[in-house]
Amino acid sequence: MNKKIAILNGSPRRKGNTSTLVQAFTKGAEASGNTVREFFLDKMDIRGCKGCFGGGKNADSPCVQKDDMDQVYPAYRDADIVVLATPLYFWTVSGQLKCAIDRLFAVAEGNPGYRNPEKESILLMAAEGNGFEETVYWYDRLMDHLQWKSIGKVLCGGVTGLGDIAGREELEEARKLGVSIR
Ligand SMILES: Cc1cc2nc3c(=O)[nH]c(=O)nc-3n(C[C@H](O)[C@H](O)[C@H](O)COP(=O)(O)O)c2cc1C
Repeated sequence: MNKKIAILNGSPRRKGNTSTLVQAFTKGAEASGNTVREFFLDKMDIRGCKGCFGGGKNADSPCVQKDDMDQVYPAYRDADIVVLATPLYFWTVSGQLKCAIDRLFAVAEGNPGYRNPEKESILLMAAEGNGFEETVYWYDRLMDHLQWKSIGKVLCGGVTGLGDIAGREELEEARKLGVSIR
């Protein structure tokens, strides 16, 4: 079955290591007939959550703040799979990605008990070192809290500069993960 995939790319570098992982994954997923929409968050106007608890009233535009999250919300609603893609920043996800994730609370606010929509999820990450443990712990716990199912993680350590990821086996891993989605 053709699946809808929404990618939240939290890297600020369009040609960086995270984006290259995203590209490889997308190539594979599209080859298997899936529909992929990537949001390059750094180039979008997405402000931090205000914590007003006033969202959820309008399904198409659930947040009280009106910004580029209004492009993400419909794709998020329709997505079978949400990909969280990010460089490792200070042993966690980038601010760009965290901002967008916090803003998804407005969707839950429209549901009884702040229930989140059911999704599958994937984590794609790049880092200079290999200190992914804290972020993987957070991601796994997030899956439990949201009652989402993780269907894969690709973590590429040892990459810092633009182009460092070229030739790395994690690109093939990401492509194959994409291909496996049917
Ligand atoms: C603000 C900042 C914080 C970073 N923190 C870490 C870190 O905690 N651990 C690590 O291994 N690399 C860290 N890095 C390096 C990046 O994760 C690495 O360069 C990665 O490949 C960048 O991905 P990108 O090409 O998608 O931007 C940091 C880089 C920046 C700019």
